[in-house]
Amino acid sequence: MKPNIVLTAAFPAVARDLLAGDFEVVEHPTEQSRSEEEMITILADADGAITLLSDPLTRRVLSSNPNLAIVANFAVGYNNVDIEAAKEIGIIVTNTPGVLTEATADLTMGLMLAVMRRIVEGDAEVRSTGRCEWEPLKLLGSSLQAKRLGIIGMGRIGSAVAARSYVFGMEVVHHSRGRGMPLDELLATSDVVSLHVPLTADTRHIIDRDALALMKKGSYLINTSRGPLVDEAALCDALESGHLRGAGLDVYEDEPAVNPRLLKRHDVVIVPHIGSATEEARDGMARIAATEIVRFFRKQPPLHAVT
Ligand code: 8YV
Repeated sequence: MKPNIVLTAAFPAVARDLLAGDFEVVEHPTEQSRSEEEMITILADADGAITLLSDPLTRRVLSSNPNLAIVANFAVGYNNVDIEAAKEIGIIVTNTPGVLTEATADLTMGLMLAVMRRIVEGDAEVRSTGRCEWEPLKLLGSSLQAKRLGIIGMGRIGSAVAARSYVFGMEVVHHSRGRGMPLDELLATSDVVSLHVPLTADTRHIIDRDALALMKKGSYLINTSRGPLVDEAALCDALESGHLRGAGLDVYEDEPAVNPRLLKRHDVVIVPHIGSATEEARDGMARIAATEIVRFFRKQPPLHAVT
């Protein structure tokens, strides 16, 4: 009997190609967020699964099917998985590090440029007027050159952002696992703060009301990591009061919902969690996830286990 592998979304073709022949593959095209009940139903006959970051892999879901042996999460982050429960139950959980580093760092720079140089505002104006009207004092933004970028989380993605930022002439400081600049000093002295830590109990609301108050007046916040790192209501207040000059956001506190206060603001650039959305990165993620499944059923050790 071939093992049953559930794909909780339509992933790049390479995933199916790698699994073809040796597995029964069932694909469940994405609906953005699934409930625990839906997950339990989808995984009922699964021996393994490739899952999305938006799939709740809670203790209840993980323990609902005694045959479920491996979950290959199609993401570098795994805050959707109850890792302790997976360990206790004996389910292997893997992630997809490395292949999305450059894509996410590129998007971070894109958001920084877009918000600081007001690219999206300019685009909207040209489209709505059908004209290119410029004036010496219109749509003035901020240069990246000589600005201080404070990176919170100097792992793979944070380091790739730093490398890019040097080329733009920025000064880079960082705070990472207690190393580098103290967080308060980084917040108080950076012109741009960019978040690159995973979401954990310790990092939830790392940018809260107090942290925002510490940030320099006129500074910018960029978040391509996880929405709940930021207290979004406090961020809206900081933008509305003019304390922050802008924000570039790829992720939101209550995804898929986006705070309507953010939607109203021209000084916020908003994109829908596209950090890893390049053909190259997503193919790489699919390849890693499917390879982990293949290896597991060949009794080979995982390459990227998080359990
Ligand atoms: C993906 C991500 O967009 O890898 C992560 O942690 O947040 C992004 O790469 C998403 O996880 C796709 O499932």
